[in-house]
Amino acid sequence: MEVESVLVTGANRGIGLEFVRQLAKLPKPPKYIFATYRDRNKIESLKQLRDACKETSIMLIKMDVTNAAQIENARYLIEDLVRDKGLNLLINNAGVYIRQSFPDTTEENMLLHFTTNTVAPVMVLKAMFPLLQQAASYTVGMNVCVSKAAVLNISSFGGSFQYKPNNFGREKLLGFSSQISKAALNMAMKNIARTVEGQDILIVNMCPGWVKTDMGRNAAELEVPESVSAMMNTLSLLNQSHHGAFIDSSMENYEAR
Ligand SMILES: NC(=O)c1ccc[n+]([C@@H]2O[C@H](COP(=O)([O-])OP(=O)(O)OC[C@H]3O[C@@H](n4cnc5c(N)ncnc54)[C@H](OP(=O)(O)O)[C@@H]3O)[C@@H](O)[C@H]2O)c1
Repeated sequence: MEVESVLVTGANRGIGLEFVRQLAKLPKPPKYIFATYRDRNKIESLKQLRDACKETSIMLIKMDVTNAAQIENARYLIEDLVRDKGLNLLINNAGVYIRQSFPDTTEENMLLHFTTNTVAPVMVLKAMFPLLQQAASYTVGMNVCVSKAAVLNISSFGGSFQYKPNNFGREKLLGFSSQISKAALNMAMKNIARTVEGQDILIVNMCPGWVKTDMGRNAAELEVPESVSAMMNTLSLLNQSHHGAFIDSSMENYEAR
């Protein structure tokens, strides 16, 4: 996979941090990796990665994905560096998962998930869209793929209607608000994919699997590097036929099953 510029949200830990690590290790790494965080006190690993990296510029940008002013500021910073080449790849990764099943669930819990996991990725995409369009037009002649212009939304199988709640164990039922927010994210991105059809910007939703991060916890099935390398591999294979799809990291389509 060759991609000139990538933006990863929620890059200070977990899956986002590992994306930055693996992108920087590509045989031909991106020129720029824009890695966002929201708390300056939680970026030690990201700073170490940036300082150790010689072949790519890892730019650390403060951006709470629910903060419109910070999203706009990030766009200016990115635009200033990428110029007419635009932004090739946006990875909407930042997300929350706070366990609370019905009837304990609160309006606050539901709205937090909807704001962070559904509205924010749409708003980040909206702000970065002109930069993605720029990348698509700069690479005219190149087939639709992540090297050209693409958006990867990190979703969850919990948001797929193929996974019926009656198959869920107690642990999955606790993900009530998260599942709803990811189902809405999938539909939002399906709608946007259709809306921007023909603009050569690939939009895909992907489940990382159940991963051992702070969110997935230790009982999870996958190590973080394992999940991210599978997603990176799949990313490199994506083309126009995957536009608007909701897939897992082995390319299985959740919505088509
Ligand atoms: N782990 C799994 O098993 C699993 C399964 C399915 C889907 N996912 C999805 O994968 C993505 C990454 O999850 P993870 O497992 O790496 O979780 P994680 O270890 O809990 O990391 C979550 C990341 O999102 C950031 N974040 C949360 N709210 C934010 C906000 N308002 N603005 C900016 N950043 C924010 C966090 O920043 P702070 O450090 O500042 O909190 C952190 O960087 C999420 O979208 C999640 O839903 C994970």
